[in-house]
Amino acid sequence: MNLLKADMKTSKRLEGIGEYYFSQKLREIDELNKQGKQIINLGIGSPDLPPHPEVIRTLQDESSKPNVHGYQSYKGSVVLRKAISAWYREWYNVELDADSEVLPLIGSKEGIMHVCMTYLDKGDEVLVPNPGYPTYRSAVKLAGGKCIDYNLKEKNNYEPDFEKLEKKKLEKVKLMFVNYPQMPTGQLPSKDLFERIVAFGRKHKILIVHDNPYSFILNDRPMSLLHVEGAKECVIELNSLSKSQNMAGWRVGMLCGAKERIDEVLRFKSNMDSGMFLPVQLAAARALGLGKDWYQQVNNEYAERREKVFEVLNLLNCKFSKDQAGLFVWARVPSKYKNGYELSDDVLYNSNVFITPGGIFGSAGEKYIRVSLCATVQKLTEAFERAASLILAKEEI
Ligand SMILES: Cc1ncc(COP(=O)(O)O)c(C=O)c1O
Repeated sequence: MNLLKADMKTSKRLEGIGEYYFSQKLREIDELNKQGKQIINLGIGSPDLPPHPEVIRTLQDESSKPNVHGYQSYKGSVVLRKAISAWYREWYNVELDADSEVLPLIGSKEGIMHVCMTYLDKGDEVLVPNPGYPTYRSAVKLAGGKCIDYNLKEKNNYEPDFEKLEKKKLEKVKLMFVNYPQMPTGQLPSKDLFERIVAFGRKHKILIVHDNPYSFILNDRPMSLLHVEGAKECVIELNSLSKSQNMAGWRVGMLCGAKERIDEVLRFKSNMDSGMFLPVQLAAARALGLGKDWYQQVNNEYAERREKVFEVLNLLNCKFSKDQAGLFVWARVPSKYKNGYELSDDVLYNSNVFITPGGIFGSAGEKYIRVSLCATVQKLTEAFERAASLILAKEEI
């Protein structure tokens, strides 16, 4: 029986916003697993390795104290803010005032929404990368803004074509999302690219939102867009402990930038949540203090896995660059497949391996697939064997 009003519908702002692709696909994979298929999931970028033992110990020790269970400051604990500031100084050579230029977040994904809700009114335009992280697009739409795609092409090293962008009408553009190392293409930034991005933001008075969760993964020179001279006047940067500290489920991220921007975003955010569990913040601070050995160890594992992924991709006849950073390998599908969706379905239904079709990151990704490195070498070897049997079976037909 439906007790609600007959015209009860979801809000207009949800129109065109579907359920997140992975949330749907994971349900389908669950179903297939219930049928006994034992799908190897190479879709999502959720690190399968644990955080450093000291980080876990900090959480355990701190959470056993009696006085840490209350609401916390909206601005985050001083300990975490200082750790973020020290991390930016040590690894990115960027100075941030721990008190005013840093805002801890409950994961960087929520930060994307907060930024959109803070700055966008109906009809305001936002430049979003195609292909790019789907959340930029949905957050802009939910906040009432309008997405203006800028295409990232392989032949341009997946860099924005600024000449083309300059020809567009940019008066209504308030924000531009950029993300390097880029997800899903794995493209690393150059110093020159970062300088061009900042120059573009300054020239057109656009707030550049740099999303930087992958800078430590398979990359030994992490870079921040805030390092560019004059960047703080037009850039804010999102960062995360999800990938580089293996803490995706802990939900810890950060927003960094000029005091004015941090205060503006906090005006919105402080109405949305009531701070983060203190022991999680203290453990996150511990994680940010980890040294070179930690990143080296994480990357040695990913480098080994990536070699296996290259083998799978070669077997499937895909084309890819070996110079990619981040938790995935991005590859072009062979012409016998119409697009990445067709390859993904073929491999899922005929060899029980799930690979993400590139089209979910935007139309410019349609001819590509993205393979996650968040599976053990053993699982990746099994995926290789399953793909090899699929190819053999097809040859025999
Ligand atoms: C490009 C990009 N930005 C942001 C996020 C969100 O990360 P977090 O776990 O910090 O919310 C992801 C997660 O997959 C991502 O790929």
